[in-house]
Amino acid sequence: MTATTLVIFGASGDLTERKLIPALYNLYVKDRLPKDFNIIGNSRSEFAHDAYRDKLRKGVEEHSASSYTAEQYDAFAAHIWYVAGDAKEPEAMAALDAFLKEHENGGADRLYYLSTAPFLYEPILNNLNTCGMNHSPDGWRRIVIEKPFGYDLKTAHALNDVVHTVFDESQVYRIDHYLGKETAQNIIFFRFANAIFEPIWNRNTIDNVQITVAESVDVGRRAGFYDGAGVLRDMFQNHLLSLLALTTMEPPSSFEANALRNEMVKLWKAVYPVKMSQTVRAQYEGYSVAEGVALNSHTPTYAALELHIGNWRWEGVPFYLRSGKALSAKTTEITVTFKRPPHMMFRMGNVSHMNSNKLTFCIQPNEGVTLGFEGKVPDTAQETQTVHMDFTYDTAFGEHEIPEAYERLLLDAIIGDAALFARGDGIEAQWDIIDPIIKGWETREAPPLGLYRRGSWGPEAADHLLARNGHEWHLRCGDSARK
Ligand code: BG6
Repeated sequence: MTATTLVIFGASGDLTERKLIPALYNLYVKDRLPKDFNIIGNSRSEFAHDAYRDKLRKGVEEHSASSYTAEQYDAFAAHIWYVAGDAKEPEAMAALDAFLKEHENGGADRLYYLSTAPFLYEPILNNLNTCGMNHSPDGWRRIVIEKPFGYDLKTAHALNDVVHTVFDESQVYRIDHYLGKETAQNIIFFRFANAIFEPIWNRNTIDNVQITVAESVDVGRRAGFYDGAGVLRDMFQNHLLSLLALTTMEPPSSFEANALRNEMVKLWKAVYPVKMSQTVRAQYEGYSVAEGVALNSHTPTYAALELHIGNWRWEGVPFYLRSGKALSAKTTEITVTFKRPPHMMFRMGNVSHMNSNKLTFCIQPNEGVTLGFEGKVPDTAQETQTVHMDFTYDTAFGEHEIPEAYERLLLDAIIGDAALFARGDGIEAQWDIIDPIIKGWETREAPPLGLYRRGSWGPEAADHLLARNGHEWHLRCGDSARK
């Protein structure tokens, strides 16, 4: 049987310790990794193999707490190795390749993982090429590329060009970890494994759709990166647009990578250019004096957008997307609001007094799906009240712990299923939506940069954005429902 090697570039970094290794450990405990499996870490810092294994133990103890045992970690860690070296230098890459070959004993499948600072992607890709590490007759070669993929449309396009000179698109796995979230995948199952929702999933019955990705954390120690990026690059270009596509794309013909991604790309390409008046940007109070943030920084930590999709299914339906840091709670949820009944037969005023039916996907942290509808209040003649049908993962699948997104994604990359990874043209289609907004925010038409209180739900301007269409934001999942 061919061995499998995972090579992590940027192996001394935070992502490796917090996400990648704990996810691999969980896969190991579940016996899902190939039998002959090795993880080789690479970065510039010097570590002996054992010192590196010990460093990673902390992350596993903390982030795989429910499955951690010292014995299992020791058995898992026996598959981990470390090679110090600057992968942007061809000699260091050649030395790494020599170590791999020695270890692989006559050939192996290899998965490279780019978890370095983005400016290193290009030199590392080029060195993989120079050292002939991108193809082999003795096993497959694949590469996982972490976000951010490009800084704007131009740089994303240029990076795709470099990637494609080294690897065939079929070898490339671009990460958007939101696609690996169990509940994000469930949107696809909810829509296409049931027959009752799809016939009403369109402009005839749906009034508006909202996507909230709220974080309670602030930028913390990541200000150095974040201040140059801002919320649109950090959260919208990838995560929010992925959730939008899962919610709105046409039914793919199969759950196969290209069938799925064709539909996602088609959807993004159908999004109308966003007008400046349909955007809101803001910064939380205190951001500009945080360590690592430029003086008088204009970087938005919050944005709200109104998007429209130009196709038969969605013409005329507003899609409201918002995300921000230092907000009141962490919650990711999507609410589909249906139209009101066309006629009011009860004595409750007119139709506009009726509440609309709302279907909410609770993506995290209180995973589930809930449907709000009107019920008759007992012992009244004609009074209604909104009641809910709730499905929660806890009650339905209590015995199955929801895996971390990286577990699904790493396993998929190892088995060669790219369905939950962004394709090159998809990334560019996403930038095509976001880039003009970022550029517009540098012009005089830009909306003012608002300020919002930490622990609030963002600036008032975001409420006005919806109010002018007669809409308001909804929060339904878990604690956030107590808005
Ligand atoms: C990352 C962003 O992609 O996603 C971070 O760079 C953000 O700024 C994180 O905090 C949110 O991920 P999750 O899985 O915690 O919702």
